[in-house]
Amino acid sequence: MKGVILAGGTGSRLDPLTKITNKHLLPIGDKPMVQWAVDALTAAGLTELMLVTGADHADDFQRLLGDDLRYGRQERPGGIAEALGLAREFVGDDRAVVMLADNIYAGSIDETIHNFERQEHGARVLLAHVRETEHLRHLGVPRMEDGRIAEIVEKPLEPPGQLAVTGLYCYGPDVFDVISELEPSGRGELEITDVNNHYVRAGTLEYDIFHGYWGDAGESIDAYYEVIDRARRPYFAGDRIQVVPLQRFEDGRGWFVELARLSLMPKQPRQTNVSFSCAGTIRGLHYHERGQDDLFVCLQGRARVVALDRDTGETFSADIGDDNFAAVYVPGNLAHGFEALTDVLMLYHVTEEYDPADPDEQGVPWDDPRVVDLWSTRSPILSERDSGT
Ligand code: DAU
Repeated sequence: MKGVILAGGTGSRLDPLTKITNKHLLPIGDKPMVQWAVDALTAAGLTELMLVTGADHADDFQRLLGDDLRYGRQERPGGIAEALGLAREFVGDDRAVVMLADNIYAGSIDETIHNFERQEHGARVLLAHVRETEHLRHLGVPRMEDGRIAEIVEKPLEPPGQLAVTGLYCYGPDVFDVISELEPSGRGELEITDVNNHYVRAGTLEYDIFHGYWGDAGESIDAYYEVIDRARRPYFAGDRIQVVPLQRFEDGRGWFVELARLSLMPKQPRQTNVSFSCAGTIRGLHYHERGQDDLFVCLQGRARVVALDRDTGETFSADIGDDNFAAVYVPGNLAHGFEALTDVLMLYHVTEEYDPADPDEQGVPWDDPRVVDLWSTRSPILSERDSGT
């Protein structure tokens, strides 16, 4: 699988910041914008990368990123699909993961790439929830029918939904034949949305939904500063959730795992709990006003951890346990809970001791509309407290 990073275009929406330099060389957090895409693809295990940019700035990128990447020069900003077309020879018979270098994902994109590895044919896109209609009008917006993408509308005046297509696309080598058949759009560009609609019509466009913070830093100067602000706080506005992979050492006796180095936790745990839950149980959602954070580890079985930022409505979910041995650190100000996907044994270190005289246990209904679709069940086993009875 090859990685293609698209960093061309005019950057006119960020004028005058882009008068002298290329948009993707502007800073976001502690690194240039383009480095976010390089790091995301590298972290997902892609080792062969190509960057396509305007001929004017290709040398600047090469000075920044070195000679480990291949470089492609786009003579004029003829569209995202045209830029991708320049990677034809580089991708060859392989598959390609394409990333727009002005898209910032505060969280891992690995799941989409792994899902595409298992996908036999067609293409795959990564969607994100966007609440503001004005924002959706600048993006590609899918019209959904029965859980599938029925059509993607580019920059719709009347967005047909609240999901947007983000700048991560996965294709097979046939994408270059699709591009070579494209006609320029009204704005004179070869549109990536036309490529994706080709796969919609073929019935082979699959998708995932990104649940962390995602931003398009190229949309406007305001959007650029918003992304800078949010990128410093991965996943959530208030605090950060961390997913920490755990390593199992196996031998003839069984296995050993180092569960948590407590000194590395943002706050020190003061109590450790273990619960067993029958398959189909949901525990939560709970949050803590006095700042209790939780570190969840699924010791046996599979659990889905779900969290909700009550202020912004952003959500997080991750399946951990047998297939994904990882710990999840959840700041207590986020409403959080987990679903037992199988019978599960769950361990949690918590950073406050439980006070039975004045418990700091606040609740948000498990079926709050902002999270209800994240669970695999609509009829969970609940405690009296969690069912609100
Ligand atoms: O950010 C996600 C959106 O990106 C999608 O929702 C839209 O469907 C998709 O069309 C795109 O819309 P934008 O308006 O954000 O595209 P923009 O023209 O800003 O280009 C995005 C990136 O693609 C940009 O960072 C550089 C690269 N690009 C763009 C053009 C027009 C090129 O490399 N060459 C080009 O000619």
